[in-house]
Amino acid sequence: MGNKSILSGNIILIGFMGTGKSSVSKYLSDTYGLEEVDVDKLIEDEEGRAIADIFKTHGEEYFRDCESNMLSNLKSCKDTIISCGGGAVLRNENVEKMEQIGKIVLLTADPNIILERVKESTVRPILNNNMNVEFITQLMEKRRKLYEEAASIIISTDFKSIKEVGEEIISSCNLKNS
Ligand code: S3P
Repeated sequence: MGNKSILSGNIILIGFMGTGKSSVSKYLSDTYGLEEVDVDKLIEDEEGRAIADIFKTHGEEYFRDCESNMLSNLKSCKDTIISCGGGAVLRNENVEKMEQIGKIVLLTADPNIILERVKESTVRPILNNNMNVEFITQLMEKRRKLYEEAASIIISTDFKSIKEVGEEIISSCNLKNS
């Protein structure tokens, strides 16, 4: 058994909350044996508390600092799927760090579909008191340019399975199953 990776470099998943970054990362890891790193999970491990708790205790700016610091720690990742929190593109320095370490893939979804996917969840402080399509649409519009400018590849996830999105990433990145 060889240990040659299907990737030649890291893939960095960005996109609004509920676009499926973590699920697609898991699919790619399970299917192709790729390493995966979830920036939010690394922050939670380092801080010893959940994201919602970090927001509540220290505020959003503190969380954004954790996010920027964590992205600086990822330089040694190799052939890894790195999923970033939905707000990781808010700081230009973060996007620069991502560009230095891999290919940035943006996952998108319609606000109505996002709402369906996230409405039962309470782990996202930004949405906790804003679980409605108007808020999601507005925040998405505010961030759209940042997402699109950061991305090398844009993949819509509407009406697609996690597997379909994962396979689309593999083919868009010209990665062949060899
Ligand atoms: C955020 C998205 C979350 C998490 C935090 C803030 C955002 O990650 O980083 O709650 O500002 O969009 P997911 O996109 O993985 O939900």
